[in-house]
Amino acid sequence: MDSYIEKIREESPTFKNHIYLNHASTGPLHGRTAEALKIFSTLWAETNFEEVDIACKNVKSQFAQLINATAEEIVFTPDVTHGTKLAVNMLEYDEKSNIVCYWNDYPGQVYQALYLKERKNVEYRPVPDKKNEILIEGFADRIDENTKIVLLSHVQWISGYKSDVKEIAKIAHENGAYILVDSIQSTGAMVNDVKDWDVDFLTCGVAKWLLGPNHKGLFYINKKLIDEFYPPFAGYHGTDVGSLDQPYWNVNKLEFLPSADKFMDTNPGNLLYFVANEGLKILLDYGAAKIESRILKLTDYLFERLNELEKIEFISSREKKYRSGIVNARISNNVEIVKRLKEKKIIVSSRYGGIRISPHFYNTEEDIDKLIELLKQYHTKSIS
Ligand SMILES: Cc1ncc(COP(=O)(O)O)c(C=O)c1O
Repeated sequence: MDSYIEKIREESPTFKNHIYLNHASTGPLHGRTAEALKIFSTLWAETNFEEVDIACKNVKSQFAQLINATAEEIVFTPDVTHGTKLAVNMLEYDEKSNIVCYWNDYPGQVYQALYLKERKNVEYRPVPDKKNEILIEGFADRIDENTKIVLLSHVQWISGYKSDVKEIAKIAHENGAYILVDSIQSTGAMVNDVKDWDVDFLTCGVAKWLLGPNHKGLFYINKKLIDEFYPPFAGYHGTDVGSLDQPYWNVNKLEFLPSADKFMDTNPGNLLYFVANEGLKILLDYGAAKIESRILKLTDYLFERLNELEKIEFISSREKKYRSGIVNARISNNVEIVKRLKEKKIIVSSRYGGIRISPHFYNTEEDIDKLIELLKQYHTKSIS
């Protein structure tokens, strides 16, 4: 174990007595994030709001660095779904318009397509899968010149399937459509590059792989599009209201800010971003490429060890290019098994009839060994 990982584990209050393999659900508490919670209350008591603001601004720069964007292209949102709502509501639709989305993507995405269908008569074209594999042809067959936007999670929350965003973005753009990527199951775990992918919008949250608290969002809009779109909702945080010191605020004219902040339609609240800032530092200090390769090594090992169990069926793809930090395997009695593991302080999730295991870069093969040891006992009992 390298010294950085050793330190992260030592400092984490969660890791003191838990084996935490559940990053696809919620990020655990870390030394730095725990400390940030305390520091925030001290700064607040001292009315030092300036330092809080600096840390929150830093969240945008650090997140931008992780996805290869600039801070001006990032805006705070209340949650991941809000980012998707922003994107789909910026667009104009007519009677021929359609929207394309993987049929079993996260409900926050799919519901936008269903909503547009019900409220604006936009045709919804769901993309099927083949045993959880989401084939590019599925998108190519459905995207056409009337497609307004394509919605897709880079990594699927149930199966962990990682899509080829670059290829799908190319198809979308060739047809004049926009593309939005939900990256909450990817950023902080897998290498992200919005410029290389050539995506228009990306929505993410700090609560999982970014090691932040539950729950705050971050939305990226390509800088070429900032001027093009009018915000779907007018919030005063996205406008130039004038100086707070002046006797009057600018309430005669809507003057949106020149950056992605023009889409900020709610008061972001700074406590949770202040904490998230420390989670992001943990990741950037180690580096996205190193994180991805460690996670993939751990999930390789996880597949290998899970294979020792009888009557197990993988929901996740084993093929390298579709792999992520999520491994989900169907086993009988999954809900009960996850509960029993929790009693032993081994944390995973039950999802879709499976046991969903999601290690981060600081987990170890020994963590996986301990999980498998208990899993073998509980699983054997449940099938015998
Ligand atoms: C793919 C995906 N998108 C979005 C979310 C969360 O959305 P929101 O922040 O809107 O609750 C999750 C999980 O909570 C998820 O797995």
